[in-house]
Parts: sequence; C-alpha cells; structure tokens
Amino acid sequence: MSTSGNLEHWELLAGFHGTGSDDYYDVPALIRGEMSLRPLEVAGLDTATRGSGVDGLRVAHVQSHIGIDTVHLARLGATVTAFDFSPVALERLRAIAAACGVEVDTVLADSQALGSTHFAAWHGRFDVVYATIGVICWIADLDAWMQGAAALLKPGGRLLLLDVHPLYCMGESFTPLVLDFPYVNDGPRHFEGSGSYANPDADLPWSIEEYAWSIGETVNAAIGAGMTIVRLDEHVASASDPRGDCMTREPDGLFRLRAGRGGAGALPEPLPVLFTLVAERPGPRGTLSEDEPVG
Ligand SMILES: C[S@@+](CC[C@H](N)C(=O)[O-])C[C@H]1O[C@@H](n2cnc3c(N)ncnc32)[C@H](O)[C@@H]1O
Repeated sequence: MSTSGNLEHWELLAGFHGTGSDDYYDVPALIRGEMSLRPLEVAGLDTATRGSGVDGLRVAHVQSHIGIDTVHLARLGATVTAFDFSPVALERLRAIAAACGVEVDTVLADSQALGSTHFAAWHGRFDVVYATIGVICWIADLDAWMQGAAALLKPGGRLLLLDVHPLYCMGESFTPLVLDFPYVNDGPRHFEGSGSYANPDADLPWSIEEYAWSIGETVNAAIGAGMTIVRLDEHVASASDPRGDCMTREPDGLFRLRAGRGGAGALPEPLPVLFTLVAERPGPRGTLSEDEPVG
C-alpha cells in the first residue's frame, strides 16, 4: 500500500484550505463562532450518542484535516483528540483551535494503523469515533481502518462514519454520464489533475490513489471488526458538494445530483451522494476509567 502521493496531496491541501481562497473552509467565521455542524453531522451524532449529545464525552476525530469539525465538537463540550496522517493538517488544526479558544489533542497517525499496539494508549478511550466526508476513498485496507475505529472505542462506544456514497464516487461526470471508478473495491485507481474540492480552480497539482468501497463492503468491514450496526442511511441531498463541482444547489439550499431525463415535467431523480453508518463496539458501557490521562 502506498500513501506517499496521497500524503503529499493532503499536505498541499492542508496548507491551502481555509487561507482565504475557498468558501468551503471559512476559518474567520469559525473563529467568530458563526459556523456550526451541518444537519447530517448533527443527526449522525444524535444516533452515535443515543441522543445525549457530545457534551462531556471523549471524541476521536479520525482524518480531522484542518480541524473545522474538531472545533465544533469541542465547542459542544466534547474532549476531542484529532487523528490525521498529515503534519501540516495537524499544525493548522492546532493554530485554528487556539484562535478559536478551544483545547484539542492531536495525534499523527495513518488511520489504518490505529488498531496496532503503537496506538495502544488510545485504545478503549473514546465514546465516539467521528469521521466524515472524504474518509474511506483514501483507505487501501478498510478492514484495518475499521479495526482501528473499533479499538479506539470504549465498550458501548459508537463509530459515526458519514461519507461520500460509492455511487457518487463512480462518476467522472454526470452530464453526460461518464463512469470512471468502480463500485466495489478493485485496488487503487490512479488519478492526476489539479485543484481542490474546496476550490476546483486552485493551482494545486496532484497525483493520487483512491479506493472504491461499496456500501456492503463498508458494513461488512465494520462487522468484521467486531462492531454491530446501529443504523445505515443513504442521503440524496447534502449541505455542500463534497466533490466541489458536480452537484447543483437547489432552491431549498441543499445540493443534489440528478441524472437522467426526468418524466412528465418532473426533475430527474436525485442520486445518493452521502451515507451515514453508525456502528457500536459491543460490551457493557462505562467499564473503563473515564478520566485517566492518555499517552
Ligand atoms: C477530505 S479530508 C476530511 C475532511 C473533513 N471532513 C473536513 O471537511 O475537514 C480527508 C483527510 O483524510 C486524511 N487522510 C487521508 N488518508 C489518510 C490516512 N491513510 N490516514 C490518516 N489520515 C488520512 C487527509 O490528510 C485529510 O486531512
């Protein structure tokens, strides 16, 4: 498994996002306290916390990027540890969190290695593992990723994975429909290009490997890691376009991806664009010490 091209890509994006050249990461608004979690993240957290909210809980934010949601989670009262394999992302995250006046811990980690003894100090410590939007397409070994998520959870703790739907990942374009990516895992697919989902016109050249994971493979990887499935939802509307330039913002403010002809004056049907998986590490809750320092 090679992550070097992907790491280089993410180092570049982490240094670019939220520095004023994209609307996706509005860091000044975050610092002013104007941003909040989007509805699907809120709904997912509601399920992941059994309706209690994250206040007072320990949350592992896996693949945190520059930490926009890390800050949101901390502001909601969670004790948050952010994990990412990009040193630049974690450096930006620490600076943004400090500017927002929130405390977070950061851990440099390939998320496929989180289940290994190297990260044993974080095992069994978290009520929630939170990973959202643009997570598993970067992962060569989804079984290892799920084992890492399960290892971080306390017994009774829950994984919230809200990610891009594999059907949306398949299309190079949707008008006209051109599919250039598998639905089920078929090893790495290499792509070259430039730009970012946050600013498709940015001068950011990249050479990356992405991985297809079907809904079935994702659910089975969670089960294989010993978790039970609490809920699986597929979504046909999103608060933003995770790929930046495919979806259309409609009058209700939500983005949708419609393909086909439609019928009898109706719009074409919207395709699934995101999914939410909530899975639980079985076991009696609250059996581990809540307050021992980590690390
Ligand atoms: C699309 S971003 C996540 C975005 C996040 N939802 C947000 O909007 O800020 C993907 C993140 O995954 C991280 N990443 C990619 N592959 C990884 C790996 N194998 N291990 C750990 N982090 C990885 C990247 O560094 C990047 O920060």
